[in-house]
Amino acid sequence: MVGGGAREHALAWKLSQAAGIEEVYAAPGNPGMAGLATCVPIAADATVELAEFAASLKIDLTVVGPELPLVLGIADEFARRALPLLGPSRAAAELEGSKAFTKEFCQRHGIPTPRARIVHDRDQAAAAVKELGTPVVLKADGLAAGKGVAVCRTRDEVEAELVRYFDERSFGAAGERVLVEECVAGDEISFMVLTDGTSVCPLASARDYKRVGDGDCGPNTGGMGAVSPVPLDPALASTILREIVHPTIAGMAAEGRPYRGVLYAGVMVTADGPQLLEFNCRLGDPETQVVIPRLDGDLAQLLRAAAAGELGAQRVNWRREAAACVVLAAEGYPGVPRRGDAITGLGEALARPGVLVFNGGTAIADGRLVTAGGRVLSVVGRGATVAEALRAAYEAAAIVRFDGAHFRSDIGRGLA
Ligand code: GLY
Repeated sequence: MVGGGAREHALAWKLSQAAGIEEVYAAPGNPGMAGLATCVPIAADATVELAEFAASLKIDLTVVGPELPLVLGIADEFARRALPLLGPSRAAAELEGSKAFTKEFCQRHGIPTPRARIVHDRDQAAAAVKELGTPVVLKADGLAAGKGVAVCRTRDEVEAELVRYFDERSFGAAGERVLVEECVAGDEISFMVLTDGTSVCPLASARDYKRVGDGDCGPNTGGMGAVSPVPLDPALASTILREIVHPTIAGMAAEGRPYRGVLYAGVMVTADGPQLLEFNCRLGDPETQVVIPRLDGDLAQLLRAAAAGELGAQRVNWRREAAACVVLAAEGYPGVPRRGDAITGLGEALARPGVLVFNGGTAIADGRLVTAGGRVLSVVGRGATVAEALRAAYEAAAIVRFDGAHFRSDIGRGLA
């Protein structure tokens, strides 16, 4: 398991229960994963070192959590050594690695997506905003660790944002090209599928909550909570598969970039139908923390089949129960998070029925569990209904404590 966040903890938790799994190794893992996997001190983006480690132990399957190693080409590194890994090649991971590539790809293949212009400086940006009008969305082309996207309501807001991209260079090389995108209204959903390059297996429906504050206020984060399932009209799911997912997989194959792994489409359901906002080449975080506990079956077998190009024969069942995740974030997040605050109450929270806690930004210092990142813990509740799952998650979240902890109190509101 490559990665060390709550998403990877959830995956390692499920993999460790799978039949025939002798051992799960996590690189670098985290204190929560240490109870169910052997953590090895290799950074998630050290792709060559990871391949050498996997070769030395003849690891049967490597699963990659975060996008960075995929965009850096970990799948190519493993393929060179004939080591099984689930995840797209570097060329295929461009779907997340470059928003400009994806926008042009969608245009080439008739995939519905908001109108946009790719710009390299402030003058081009101003012209694009004049053409597209406000509100408008600015997106750094490259990976920006969940940041680098700004919704601007006015031209003044656009001006202020452009300073960050082109003058302050807040996103470094990732912000040298910027996508100026029409702002479309609707309901945003996360639509995740597993694909072996030909067959497609949709994962359970989920939604996440990106803004830091209640009522979708404040800056964007990686995700402050999630719920699964969410209402998803089967006709809409079919449309997304037909208009977005299948043309993408076929188009990538036709362009010599066959796509294998998880494809996560961020979709806006507008009055004119679904439109693709962005692709991610990996599972969502915190969506994984609510989807994986609902998987009724052997995750290792499923992922192995996808990696081997044999997904067609696999059946996936989802438990009828619901899951809800509340992310406990550190003081300062989504800015610079404070580190080193002692975490208490975890054992008590975990003793509650239906509760799981996945570690995100945690570390051990002087024998104590402390905060070590922005999204510290994902507290997950499970129940027969979304309302029960939310209650379990919030009751457990109230027990876990660290100085500066903050979380949204409206995850799942309107869904229960
Ligand atoms: N939850 C959003 C993401 O994983 O990108």
